[in-house]
Amino acid sequence: MAEPLHIIEAQQFDRPFMETLFQRSTELKQVVEEEGGCDLLRNRVLVVLFYQPSTRTRLSFETAMSRMGGAVVSTENALEFSSHSKGESIEDTIQTVACYGDVVVLRHHQEGGVRRAARVSPVPVINAGDGPGQHPTQALLDMYTIRNEFGAFDGLTVALVGDLKYGRTVHSLAYLLAKYPVKKLYLVAPEQVEMPPRLIAHLQKRVELESCTDLEAVAGDVDVVYTTRLQQEYFEDPLAYQRSLGRYTLHQGVLAAMKEQAIILHPLPRNDEIPYQVDLDPRARYFQQVRNGLYLRMALLERVLMPTLKA
Ligand code: NCD
Repeated sequence: MAEPLHIIEAQQFDRPFMETLFQRSTELKQVVEEEGGCDLLRNRVLVVLFYQPSTRTRLSFETAMSRMGGAVVSTENALEFSSHSKGESIEDTIQTVACYGDVVVLRHHQEGGVRRAARVSPVPVINAGDGPGQHPTQALLDMYTIRNEFGAFDGLTVALVGDLKYGRTVHSLAYLLAKYPVKKLYLVAPEQVEMPPRLIAHLQKRVELESCTDLEAVAGDVDVVYTTRLQQEYFEDPLAYQRSLGRYTLHQGVLAAMKEQAIILHPLPRNDEIPYQVDLDPRARYFQQVRNGLYLRMALLERVLMPTLKA
């Protein structure tokens, strides 16, 4: 049997893989809009195993599977309601659920937890977030949204804003953006939560990079403002969290400085980074991003299940 295609980290994708996936996402969008879905994944079962809370990632994967005619079994609080609470290892849990399903979407509380699971899994494992590590499928849908807006990534200037240390979505997105000839990346973060040095070293070799702390000063230069929530759950020092709060709210000054054609993205959930009145700004795209996540995850489930579908 062919090796399962695990989705672990953003570095694993090449541009042709992404382009094919984006194209297929658009085809499936049309299928959903015209017919509500299809039955291409009929008789396939998705196991959803989440050790951390989620709204969008879990429900969009589940909806994606349902809209393709497949079935879903789900544990949304695996820390408490799985045998983890009885001391079972992630390796044993994965080998168990792989006896039931054809693919596993896993959100784990530890960086590297999904990789450990994939190592022993006979079915594809998809990383839906591993602690402060990565969130590759969020980054794919972020890229899909950007590409739909601008047609290409070439020459774009992107500001990644907020918690760049613990924010797993920005880690994955930065890796993906650096695969294209973007013009420049601004890393806008409070000192307490700057991008990890290892990731900066990777990016520096590939794109023009500028780290800064003043969003308003660079807002006029960017095509995409990608804001993120401070990941309070990972902060060791509550005072550091308090000091960083409110630093990058998209207030009037920032919005006024931004280009008319720029877009505002956020993986959600938001706290105070984007005031609710910004939803009316024509540059806001974060709910479009949510919708795109459905199509992208449909395409991704189809892609990882393809070998078994052919069999
Ligand atoms: C993010 C996550 O869980 O990493 N949400 C998401 O999946 N869209 C972002 C966050 O929690 O801030």
